[in-house]
Amino acid sequence: MDEVKLRVAFTPPDFHAKWNELICVVVDVLRASSTIVTLLENGCQQVYTLASASDSRALSRKQDYILAGERNGLTLPGFDMGNSPCEVLINDVAEKGVVLTTTNGTRVIKKVSGARKVLIGCFLNAQACCERALLLAREYKTGIGIICAAEKNAFVLDDAFCAGFLVEEILQIAGLNSINIELLDSAQAARRIYHGYPDILSAFRASNSGQRLLSIGREDDFRFCSNVDIFTSVPVLYQNSYFWCESL
Ligand code: MLT
Repeated sequence: MDEVKLRVAFTPPDFHAKWNELICVVVDVLRASSTIVTLLENGCQQVYTLASASDSRALSRKQDYILAGERNGLTLPGFDMGNSPCEVLINDVAEKGVVLTTTNGTRVIKKVSGARKVLIGCFLNAQACCERALLLAREYKTGIGIICAAEKNAFVLDDAFCAGFLVEEILQIAGLNSINIELLDSAQAARRIYHGYPDILSAFRASNSGQRLLSIGREDDFRFCSNVDIFTSVPVLYQNSYFWCESL
């Protein structure tokens, strides 16, 4: 069996055109990835991720979709909810469409949307997401790229730490299934970052994104996003348009 090559883009500029042939996993653990996974896990039908707030308003108005989003962590004026997994839990999103716009995550999704497949990963769905990425990599005979959303193109610790966790998870699943993985330098580095912290909350606390969430009073999201494998939904980008849970 051929090896599956695994690499990490710590910032969006690390994503080059040749990554388009890969199975890509977008990680914005605090919080866009965690919000999208929580939406689909709670029965939401489709999540449209848009970079612009005004385009989001227009789409939600036209289709009667729930409007969710933030800028610099704060809910945008007139929006139904923020970019918050904990807010998803107290809203009825079942069988509804949601439009989400965020400061970094939804822009990065747009950038990688031409990839072979685009998945969303975080701690909440780590195992399910890594299993799906491996399955797709073997089906399409290609590698896997984990793309960190980062912060305005600059490295962030929380995403890099989560990427390292996903690298570890992929290695474990591959080991159990006799799949060979080649870790490119970036994946090895992410793994080192993951092992540099005693636990998830310590890494979140050390990160700028984690500190910002605490400073705006969202300790609920800060803690919720650290739960590992509580969900099995794997958002997959459909026809470059919206995320949904593709059946196997
Ligand atoms: C982002 O996309 O920039 C984040 O998810 C921001 C946040 O919700 O705090």
